[in-house]
Amino acid sequence: MFDKNTYIERRHRLQAQLDSGLILLMGNHESPMNFTDNAYRFRQDSHFLYFFGLDSPGLAGLIDIDEQTTTIFGDELTLDHIVWMGPQPTLAERARRTGVNDTTPYGELEGKLREALNKGRTVHFLPPYRAENRILLSQWMDIPINSVKSRASASLIKAVVSLVSIKSPEEVVEMEKAVNITRAMHLAAMRRARPGILEAELAGIVEGIALAANGQLAYPAILTVNGQTLHNHYHGNTLKEGQLVLGDFGAETSTHYAGDITRTFPVSKTFNTRQKEIYKIVLDTEVACIEALRPGITYKEVHLDAARTITEGLKALGLMKGDTEEAVQAGAHALFFPHGLGHMLGMDVHDMEGLGEDYVGYGDELERSSQFGLKSLRLARTLKPGFVLTVEPGIYFIPELIDRWQEERKHWEFINYEKVQQYRNFSGVRIEDNVLITEAGHQVLGKPIPKTIKEVEAERQA
Ligand code: GLY
Repeated sequence: MFDKNTYIERRHRLQAQLDSGLILLMGNHESPMNFTDNAYRFRQDSHFLYFFGLDSPGLAGLIDIDEQTTTIFGDELTLDHIVWMGPQPTLAERARRTGVNDTTPYGELEGKLREALNKGRTVHFLPPYRAENRILLSQWMDIPINSVKSRASASLIKAVVSLVSIKSPEEVVEMEKAVNITRAMHLAAMRRARPGILEAELAGIVEGIALAANGQLAYPAILTVNGQTLHNHYHGNTLKEGQLVLGDFGAETSTHYAGDITRTFPVSKTFNTRQKEIYKIVLDTEVACIEALRPGITYKEVHLDAARTITEGLKALGLMKGDTEEAVQAGAHALFFPHGLGHMLGMDVHDMEGLGEDYVGYGDELERSSQFGLKSLRLARTLKPGFVLTVEPGIYFIPELIDRWQEERKHWEFINYEKVQQYRNFSGVRIEDNVLITEAGHQVLGKPIPKTIKEVEAERQA
């Protein structure tokens, strides 16, 4: 964790954005895999980590804005726990590390909240994404379980988004570490891939690197010869000559900051001509989008520029036709690029999206589109210095989508279906980097990871 002053300052800045009442920040609990003592690897809630830094289960923080007090709720370990898991710092010791002097048993939290609610005070809480916390909030605050999310505090969500969106220099250092571990994972995948091995073998190698760095995966690895499926977690295919491997994976550091990088490389040592042509369009798009990043531009503009570059490239190959601007406005490019250009990145791989995607990516500034493709743009708003985001354009040939659109004669004026059908077994290409918005423009995080055709082929031959 960072120095306690980081957390004290963050809590002060949070309180300053809310008028009155209590702020409840729930930590996570152990989550059993199949019986209580066999839990999934513990992952603390990222917002609890942001404001308190304490990385152990069964904690909650309560900030009383009017009384100017902060309390950590949690339980001391019993001797039975210590026999099971070894000696641990006391709750008071842990609380002091984050600059909090008041600790109270977890069981007393409900009484505190009820007392406040009975006095007509507001208890601000964030929307829970885990069932355990949703149940607790429902019980403590007499809210029907299905209404807990909608009763979360919009003003607290907005305050958290405004703070967490701007990464401090000490956070950027952690994010660079995450990307550099992620880089090692990608280099290993590129070097160790060969015809005849299972995707699972590569997936095991990359996960091992994240674990060996005292971290873990930031999200389940996408490592597949079927890159046309956007979130493909199946690792049972055998690599064959002529295929592409799409690897979208990242490390989470021991401080829980995430890397999220995608590279696509050939199973054979070199790309074939068709692969090179598609790869080059995606590469040119990614590079141009990164170049465009600066404070003041909306990410929606950058996304639409990506759509234009992809459309131009596909027109040059005879896969699309017609006026580029009209095709993009109509959403025809989304047959090949059906997702958004990127998202915020931080302690969560899709940073803060548990609070509601639109709070994070649109705010009060923009309305989300309902058009296929554009509706999946998670980050659209104006970029500010301190944002860290992903840039991840792609081109995919999704046979089921191609067939459906062709049957419906959808965007017939912009898509050359006869030619597209010749690519139906191509799979997909995505290229992704992680970028910090700076006062002067932008900075790509981490050491360079092979990306040009020449660099990727050189890595495959290393
Ligand atoms: N890279 C995984 C995701 O953005 O969901």
